[in-house]
Amino acid sequence: MIIQKQKVLEINNTIKKIIKLPQKNSSFKSFKLQKMQVSNPSNSFDEMAQKYKNAKELPIFKDIIEFTMLQTIGDLKGLKVLDLACDEGNNCRIMRKKGASEVLGVDISPEMIDLAESSEKSIPLGCKYLVHDASTLEKMGEFDLVVAIYLLNYAQTKGELRKFCEVAYKNLKKGGRFIGFNDNPFHKGGLSSELKKYGFTKESPEIGRKEGDPIKYTFYLKDGSEFSFDDYWLSPKTYEDVFKETGFEDFKWEGPFLDDSLTKEERDKYDVYMANPPGIGFSMKKMA
Ligand SMILES: C[S@@+](CC[C@H](N)C(=O)[O-])C[C@H]1O[C@@H](n2cnc3c(N)ncnc32)[C@H](O)[C@@H]1O
Repeated sequence: MIIQKQKVLEINNTIKKIIKLPQKNSSFKSFKLQKMQVSNPSNSFDEMAQKYKNAKELPIFKDIIEFTMLQTIGDLKGLKVLDLACDEGNNCRIMRKKGASEVLGVDISPEMIDLAESSEKSIPLGCKYLVHDASTLEKMGEFDLVVAIYLLNYAQTKGELRKFCEVAYKNLKKGGRFIGFNDNPFHKGGLSSELKKYGFTKESPEIGRKEGDPIKYTFYLKDGSEFSFDDYWLSPKTYEDVFKETGFEDFKWEGPFLDDSLTKEERDKYDVYMANPPGIGFSMKKMA
């Protein structure tokens, strides 16, 4: 009972802290306060915002995830970008520095957005941020590019995945692209303890995996602490069907790609990751 009350309080606080309006001179559509659904409060990214920020110092984020994202995007110059599940804004800042003309980052966690905004305050780049559930976001503008790094794997059902995809679709201009990085649905189940050398492990049912089964990620930080959270498995077919049903074209699983500026010795360290990648990129297009 106490735990339930605590959870309700957390959710209420989340709702109260919601909605930071884009600034007036932004071309993003102005935004009305609306009741937000907290689709995944149990993951409680608020509580682990700083820890996740620290985890992103693990080389894997730069060497594979960021590299795959940038390779998949290509030239960012002049692009208007919407980053769904932007967490503390690292990718928003990277994309802005690579030439994106505008970047709006959206995340369900107010603590994550606080971190993003304090980075923006210390080094202003003109990135805008908004606390909102990415599955219920309205049309914020006509973006050239929508990015979702580790968001789609929070969908527990085909219906939830469709909501994320519809939000991406309606926010894209014709010919715009939806790209991202995700838990790899082709990755085999079980406990992947061999990944610990990269600073994390992944665990999901080994046999008879079903749609919506949880995948537990545990991160191991330099200071000896660790933290865990769940996302969810949906089959590659479910992903591919939903992308198509939403109206996207030219869908491709991408990579993952390993930073080609690394030395051979550095690249060799990713042997286990690359042999059975736990994460994978994707890209698709809204018809012109
Ligand atoms: C594993 S982190 C990934 C963040 C980031 N994109 C990255 O590159 O690492 C997951 C993020 O997704 C956010 N998130 C989870 N469900 C969400 C939802 N429905 N809408 C918006 N953000 C969500 C969490 O708050 C958290 O910041």
